[in-house]
Amino acid sequence: MKKNYSIALDGPAGSGKSTVAKLTAKKLGFTYVDTGAMYRTIGLYFLRNNVDISDNAAVVKALSEIEVDLEYVDGEQQVMLNEENVNAYIRTEEVGKQASIVSALGEVREKLLFLQRNMAEKKSIIMDGRDIGTVVLPNATLKIYMEASAKIRAKRRYDELTAKGVSCDLDEIEKDIIARDERDMNREISPLKKADDAEVVDTSEINPQQVSEKIIELFEKKIAD
Ligand code: DC
Repeated sequence: MKKNYSIALDGPAGSGKSTVAKLTAKKLGFTYVDTGAMYRTIGLYFLRNNVDISDNAAVVKALSEIEVDLEYVDGEQQVMLNEENVNAYIRTEEVGKQASIVSALGEVREKLLFLQRNMAEKKSIIMDGRDIGTVVLPNATLKIYMEASAKIRAKRRYDELTAKGVSCDLDEIEKDIIARDERDMNREISPLKKADDAEVVDTSEINPQQVSEKIIELFEKKIAD
């Protein structure tokens, strides 16, 4: 039987995970699984339906009404929320913030964990998120922890938004990034942290292409061992 490989890619918001994961998946012929998009989808549902996250019964009820599925069109992940393709709605700052808030809830994490592990069983994947190396795929073939300073990450986000014609404030973005790090790293369940056996890659000074090459080099070394 053909062996499935998995690369776990964790790191804070703006560390460049998704760009690097897409490049690497293409080069290796793996499927890219963006787990942040799944949390964003649940965040979107909670925003649309005004779900009060401090009301546990309301959270449980909302989760029972949500079905999240992943589909691939030309290699691009599409997230389906109750059969609606929500890719176009999940990339806003508002949804990102809500995703970070709902992702602290145990019930939310449990719901997505099953889906994530199931993906990794079926094919060779590169999966990015916050807890992939520590919780979702503890036996991943290779684990990478990407980091960069909050200033650099904020500047990247600022450039991205400005290029899209969205007017924004660099200091505000940096403040939001620091608040997001704070929530993602200090929550009780599955916080963002480096797995003991993860390789750290600092992306501050190197471009996504170079990061991807480094990951492929580490991966090839791992499977040759
Ligand atoms: O990677 P992203 O910005 O799309 O993720 C949005 C939020 O989802 C992030 O702030 C924290 C949460 N998340 C998580 O808790 N665990 C993951 N594996 C992926 C994302």
